Amino acid sequence: MTTTAAGTEQPGAGEPYLELRGVSKYFGGVRALHEVDLSLHRGEVVALVGDNGAGKTTLVKVISGVEHPDSGEVAVRGEKVRLDTPRTAAGHGIHTVYQDLSLCDNLDAVRNLFLGQELAGSRWRGRPLDRHRMEVEARRVLDSLSVRIRSLTTPVGGLSGGQRQGIAICRSLISDPSLVLLDEPTAALGVTQRAEVLDLIGRLKAQDRGVLVISHDLKDVQEVADRVVVMRLGAKVAEFVRGRYTSSELVAAMTGAHEGSDG
Ligand SMILES: Nc1ncnc2c1ncn2[C@@H]1O[C@H](COP(=O)(O)OP(=O)(O)OP(=O)(O)O)[C@@H](O)[C@H]1O
Ligand SMILES: [Mg+2]
Repeated sequence: MTTTAAGTEQPGAGEPYLELRGVSKYFGGVRALHEVDLSLHRGEVVALVGDNGAGKTTLVKVISGVEHPDSGEVAVRGEKVRLDTPRTAAGHGIHTVYQDLSLCDNLDAVRNLFLGQELAGSRWRGRPLDRHRMEVEARRVLDSLSVRIRSLTTPVGGLSGGQRQGIAICRSLISDPSLVLLDEPTAALGVTQRAEVLDLIGRLKAQDRGVLVISHDLKDVQEVADRVVVMRLGAKVAEFVRGRYTSSELVAAMTGAHEGSDG
């Protein structure tokens, strides 16, 4: 029944933007990742699920250049790359929004959006930062994801969790990334704010960005993900496509209830 209009591809079709092959990572004796294969396409939302300690954050850190795999390969648009630092990853169009958000409460939305990537002002005007240009750009990026912040000039410490998450996600858009990685963006959010963040993920996808999102909320996952990748004890144990799995199959894969059967 899925007849797609000419030119519109199914999410996940075609060459992946990012591909991991056999990626392993150890912390001392702890096997955090074991021979993980993963592909991510533009315009696709992939959810990463699994129990605490399954290796989800480590996998995101490998893709964002924070942790380095002990073995395995990473390719961007078919070319093998080394993601040595977050800057290298950003250079390959990969931007990460971390679990702890790392917003500066005492700074306003504009300063937070441009933290570490400030626009310099013209030297002859004697201004270290081009505040006006940053405000215009901040408004544009916030509008593009329909994040509503009444005042760009008040400290973000007073904003709601959903607004803060919105700013953190918008910060990733300043560099116009192809892939956005989100580590538990809906954790600790209320129902309305959660819905806002899920909408936001949909908009990232509509902008033809790939999204990899870690979540413990299986309802969120089922709502937002085109594909679900299940991790357990550092290994990828199953992968499900939207509409072709049930909640109980997902839970069984996460807990290992159906050991041996491959989702
Ligand atoms: N820097 C580190 N040093 C030592 N061990 C680590 C480090 N980072 C992660 N680990 C270990 O690697 C394993 C995977 O951890 P990771 O944080 O990736 O799990 P997770 O799936 O994100 O879990 P959670 O759902 O709790 O966030 C765990 O056993 C963890 O203790
Ligand atoms: Mg984690």
